[in-house]
Amino acid sequence: MHIKIIDKMKSLLFLYFCVAMAFSAMASSVSDTYVIPNPQQMVCGDGHFVLRAQASFSCNLTGTDKDDFVSYVSNSPLSLTYKKKGKADITFKLVSPENAKMKEEAYRLKVTKKGIQAEATSASGLFYAFQSIVQLARESGNGTYRLPEVTIEDAPRFSYRGMHLDVSRHFYTKEFVKKQIDALARYKLNRFHWHLTDGAGWRIEIKKYPELTRETAYRPFPDWKSWWNGGRTYCRQDALGASGGYYTQEDVKEIVEYARQRHITVIPEIEMPAHSEEVLAALPQLACGGDLKPGGEFCPGKELTYEFLTNVLKEVMELFPSEYIHIGGDEASTNHWKQCPDCQALMKAEGMKEEGELQEYLVSRIEKFLKENGRKMIGWDEILTGELDETSAVTVWRGEDKGAESVKRGLRTILSPGAYCYFDSYQDAPRTQPEAIGGYLPLEKVYSYEPITEAFPADKLDCVWGVQGNVWTEYIPTPEHAEYMIYPRLLALAEVAWTNPEQKDWKRFHAEALQEVKVLNSMGYHTFDLQNEVGNRPVALSVDNHLAKGKKVEYVRPYSDSYPAGGESALTNGIHGGWVYTDQRWQGFLGKGADVIVDLEKSQPIQQLSIDFMQLRGPGVFLPQKVSFLISNDGKEYTLLKTITTTLPITDEQLTIQTYDWTGSCEARYVRVQADINPEAGGFLFTDEFVVK
Ligand code: ACM
Ligand code: ZN
Repeated sequence: MHIKIIDKMKSLLFLYFCVAMAFSAMASSVSDTYVIPNPQQMVCGDGHFVLRAQASFSCNLTGTDKDDFVSYVSNSPLSLTYKKKGKADITFKLVSPENAKMKEEAYRLKVTKKGIQAEATSASGLFYAFQSIVQLARESGNGTYRLPEVTIEDAPRFSYRGMHLDVSRHFYTKEFVKKQIDALARYKLNRFHWHLTDGAGWRIEIKKYPELTRETAYRPFPDWKSWWNGGRTYCRQDALGASGGYYTQEDVKEIVEYARQRHITVIPEIEMPAHSEEVLAALPQLACGGDLKPGGEFCPGKELTYEFLTNVLKEVMELFPSEYIHIGGDEASTNHWKQCPDCQALMKAEGMKEEGELQEYLVSRIEKFLKENGRKMIGWDEILTGELDETSAVTVWRGEDKGAESVKRGLRTILSPGAYCYFDSYQDAPRTQPEAIGGYLPLEKVYSYEPITEAFPADKLDCVWGVQGNVWTEYIPTPEHAEYMIYPRLLALAEVAWTNPEQKDWKRFHAEALQEVKVLNSMGYHTFDLQNEVGNRPVALSVDNHLAKGKKVEYVRPYSDSYPAGGESALTNGIHGGWVYTDQRWQGFLGKGADVIVDLEKSQPIQQLSIDFMQLRGPGVFLPQKVSFLISNDGKEYTLLKTITTTLPITDEQLTIQTYDWTGSCEARYVRVQADINPEAGGFLFTDEFVVK
């Protein structure tokens, strides 16, 4: 009897287990059907197709396209076998553009119970169809895969879908680069912008100038921060403790070819005229004359500079078939040029009025050189200061106004603004994260990016070439850390680049990204732990309906025009600042600091006054020396309630958001807070939401 009951319980438990499994299988089969970036049209059926082990595929591509495709598909984890003749499990069909009415890179995909058919008008379209197949396939034991029944019609929104990687601040191996290229292919990105040169090290072998890599590809510091703070010196590869590396020309060819087979163009960037400290260390003759120590800018006044740059670019063009070559062009200082006899002589000869024109002169000469060699130029948006050839393209990294300017001028424009596309920013609550350059760019913010705004003239929207995620690596010393910063943010960027806004949906994407992160982990990528994301400051997530909300603020000391946030309503709009002072919620103060009065319109009981301040030493944001709360009923005579003196040292480097408050009981119409800048620290004071309760 006793045994029987246990048996019965066992069978009930078993039944329960089966039902639970069935439900979880149903649940997972629904949510398992996703493709990132989301296709423009995807209709799911009820059934599925089982791709048996060693299933076959056919394709009617020809020549190199066919060789590349067959090799790629045959070597994929789905272990498919190419079938030259007869019916295959998967057919990839190239169709003529006239009949198919499909855009370049578009594809159609149909998975039925009987098989899989893909068609496209280009090899890249078939390649993307295959990427969707790979994402839809789920292992189902014994080397088989299950795919849901589905019909997809898909085409990219933008033709340029890129990721950038800075390999100067930290060097990453050829294998690492290839691994990232695999991920770009998975998410249908098609440009890899390779930032090969910068002050922290020259990373590409140039046969004519072996001293570049010999003298500056290594440094006696393992990471950028210690190098930056430790004298910014270089060493040779065989020096004790040497850290760094470079890509030989053979490595470069291998990577370019690897990317080509994955429909990715590698765009090399050779920085000029700035960010070139390493070149000037190896070849000091390219620096300006004058009394200043060499900086990071080439001397645009010397012919030698052009000889060097064009010689380097000749070798670069041999290695990179890309139509476009990126020449940097960002953040050049004119300090050295002002004092250099050669620069001044050139200005005089060319009738230039100010040193900025030297940058334009250099960019223009390089643009002409590239054009004469059958190539086109891309530069960061600083190149907009000069005349540009109509074939040149611009990578916009600053604000929307630069994007609008570039588009208005009819230039091909790649949008990569810092606020949405800089993957070196913190992706979660800064204190929970490894040190980053600053900012706060969670997945949701990347995903929310809409590249086309009203500032862009409607008749020039064709000039918006696409979008790009940038991976600057000052604070990214290891390959694992780089992947942590890239994934899953790159997935959101891929969807911004590929998917039309109507097909975007944050909730859906977030659920998919949670699953896809696990897939990426199983593939060996070290992603950010999206599952345990902390998110924005809790107080920043909802409106705070406190007594001062919507009440008028009088500024006894003015706020800074550089950081007005919402202007006069910023401190009492009920919206608290988040993790970054650039989120247009925090108000900035210079000079003596902040002194504001809020008129509550009538005298009323008050139990609490509070206000937040921020410290972030890097960019010069400090807590106030002290904060005082005062009240008044007539707006003339103020009674001091409390003064709080800051104890956090100004040397503390971590982001700190500190609340200063008074609690008690009083009645007042006017409440006032005075926050004095710490004279020892200087810098900015950032504050938000003067809360009255
Ligand atoms: C840049 O971030 N300096 C292009
Ligand atoms: Zn000069």
